[in-house]
Amino acid sequence: MGKVRAFGASDSPQAFLSREQVSMSRCRCKAGWLLLAFAGFLGTSPAAPARPRLVLKLGHGLPTTHAVHKAMLFMADRVQARSDGQMIVQVFPNEQLGNEKECIEALQLGYLAMTKVSSAPMESFVNKMKVFGVPYLFRNSEHFWKVLDGPIGKELLVAGEAKRLRGLCYYDAGARSFYTRSRAIHSPADLSGLKIRVQNSIMAVKMMQAMGGSATPIPFGELYTALDQGVVDGAENNAPSFVQARHYEVCGYYTLDEHTCLPDILMIGTRVWKKLDAEQRRILQEAADESVRYQRELWVEQEQKDLQVAREAGVEIIRPNKQPFRESVRPIWEEFQGSSDPKLAEIGDLIDRIQEVR
Ligand code: GCU
Repeated sequence: MGKVRAFGASDSPQAFLSREQVSMSRCRCKAGWLLLAFAGFLGTSPAAPARPRLVLKLGHGLPTTHAVHKAMLFMADRVQARSDGQMIVQVFPNEQLGNEKECIEALQLGYLAMTKVSSAPMESFVNKMKVFGVPYLFRNSEHFWKVLDGPIGKELLVAGEAKRLRGLCYYDAGARSFYTRSRAIHSPADLSGLKIRVQNSIMAVKMMQAMGGSATPIPFGELYTALDQGVVDGAENNAPSFVQARHYEVCGYYTLDEHTCLPDILMIGTRVWKKLDAEQRRILQEAADESVRYQRELWVEQEQKDLQVAREAGVEIIRPNKQPFRESVRPIWEEFQGSSDPKLAEIGDLIDRIQEVR
């Protein structure tokens, strides 16, 4: 059986997959994906300087100007410095290694070491992650961080261990709001008849149904073109993603209804995590924790700056009455709270516990 080098933990002999395993994988690799992921190993000759002991590849979908990307570079620098160059995290932005769902699957299979995804696509892998998709779950950002930094946040980070997915930390991804090409949204009624791009997330689809719009899941990297060509009438996201992905060039309205606060999550596959020794785990976790503090500062600045960029480019920024939006999604809360279905009740319990955090 032919063997190919796995690209999770590149030095690890156990991290090999057979060609058959790779080709049978559910991951729809983009053209060039394998070659790119192998790039870290090319060019090594007996005369070349010694390779670092461990190279961890991290794929994600955001542009390089985004605060979350910058935080991951910060984390990678820390890892390299703390390990005296023995551990390298290589960051691949812009869906170069696949979209978020594909990266999560690659982590499970062990041929991508790390990814950074929104909590939304994690829902199909880890039921409990759905709780973040409950609209208007958090009272404010203080409540949000108290939950994420506390026992519930920690519980959710490791809730995917059985699915070979481990969260290292959360990054701030603010609150998500609607943006539209040509119709201003002041209330849920304005969404009627509009096709709104959502993430690959059952909760986002439920939310759109409750609000009266039509949900169209599309990967983030394909969204600019979809908006530009009118495949969808709008989308929803935080200000940095709206601006840094240049969606504001093709959408004239941004309605700050702030329906969901979905954290970004830095993930490592447990296949790779288990191969790290205690010192390597400590270095990686500490670097991730430090990058969280750095990212939260960057985020506050970038959110304000990007809103201003959009405004100056002529985007109409709308601050609607949030009450009708809140009311429209009440059935989503009711579906979970007090349900006798164990999967729904699991989310209902989390909603209750999150509400109790003061
Ligand atoms: C945010 C988030 C990304 C996600 C994107 C999306 O920008 O940070 O991880 O891909 O939303 O809407 O798909």
